Amino acid sequence: MTLSRRNFVVSSLAVSARSLLHPGMSPQAVAGGKLPIIVSAANGYNYLDEAYSFLSGGGDTLDAALKVVQGPENDPNDQSVGLGGHPNEEGVVELDACSMHGPTRTAGAVGGVRNIKNVSLLSNAVRLHTGHVMLVGEGAERFAVAQGFPRENLLTDKSRKEWLLWKAAHSAWWGPGISSPEWRAPNARQAHADRWESEIGRLNQLAADIGIVPGLRAEAIRNVIFPPTGTIHCSALNRKGEISGCTTTSGLAWKIPGRLGDSPIIGAGCYTDQDIGSAGATGSGEENIKVAGAHTIVENLRRGMPPREAGLEALRRIVRNYNGDRDRLQFVDMVYYILRKDGAYAGVSLWEGYADNGDKPHQIAVHDGEKRLEKTVSVFAGRSHEWPPMPR
Ligand code: GLY
Repeated sequence: MTLSRRNFVVSSLAVSARSLLHPGMSPQAVAGGKLPIIVSAANGYNYLDEAYSFLSGGGDTLDAALKVVQGPENDPNDQSVGLGGHPNEEGVVELDACSMHGPTRTAGAVGGVRNIKNVSLLSNAVRLHTGHVMLVGEGAERFAVAQGFPRENLLTDKSRKEWLLWKAAHSAWWGPGISSPEWRAPNARQAHADRWESEIGRLNQLAADIGIVPGLRAEAIRNVIFPPTGTIHCSALNRKGEISGCTTTSGLAWKIPGRLGDSPIIGAGCYTDQDIGSAGATGSGEENIKVAGAHTIVENLRRGMPPREAGLEALRRIVRNYNGDRDRLQFVDMVYYILRKDGAYAGVSLWEGYADNGDKPHQIAVHDGEKRLEKTVSVFAGRSHEWPPMPR
């Protein structure tokens, strides 16, 4: 992949103004679907088969959803969740998760948890073994150890080096000092476009100094300039109509220690109502918290909106929060995964996909006997950045 200002900025700004509602290519169910069914974020795709057989064989709906999300939590190469997740600005991985069990109408959540990989299971342990709903930080970690969860180092070499690159890019003290031959005098009079080119050149050099291999440099630089949020949500529905959901994440890369996004917030990152359905989110956590996205969607379902419309209406609340200003909204993205109690489902997103992610669109993973990925239906045509770019 060639790194350039065009890759990072111009292409994603070329957003069609033709429509506020851009239909995706895949038809999605709006009337009841097949049961059992599991829907998840695309990074759950590889784990759907095992969870689906478990669910079809009579397994519990939340246990099935937890089987899916544990896959990325255990995968060191998924930098948005669990082991290998991007760390906070101090280089420490902090994880968030929540789970809701429809049949028993119970919930558990954990936030800002360090050293424990499977925070989805930890949120379930809070649900099952405490009289609380949410534990955070050190208390959540101590509870995990008491419950038998192993403490482990979650920072992989890949994520550590990307964090070092982020530190070097943002701090006068972590990059080469003025006595280093690598030091370059900033040129204050450079035009904005040239500054981008030279900034990317600088990051390439820093990445080489840090030991990031050439094949991983473009991805590392992208993650430094546009900190990703990642995350996985999964909802599962069995033949009896029981439904559950869970969401787990390492949150926004390079966040301030202690920052919680939407994922551990019941009603934002996930919401399940046994009478209605389940919804979950990935994307810009701060924006989703402000519209209580998952809860809003389930309430829209309750009022009779079909899943797609229920999700799009929540996305339009995010658009409304910025008065439709696309100069700002290009740095926001949300994907909602929606499963109604009769098996109807939808995947909706603010944009069609992330810029600089090739042609890969936002997708929802579905298993109802047939495993597949489907494009989401987006509010805007075009692609977003995940977060305001650096340099400002
Ligand atoms: N949606 C994940 C986060 O913002 O933390």
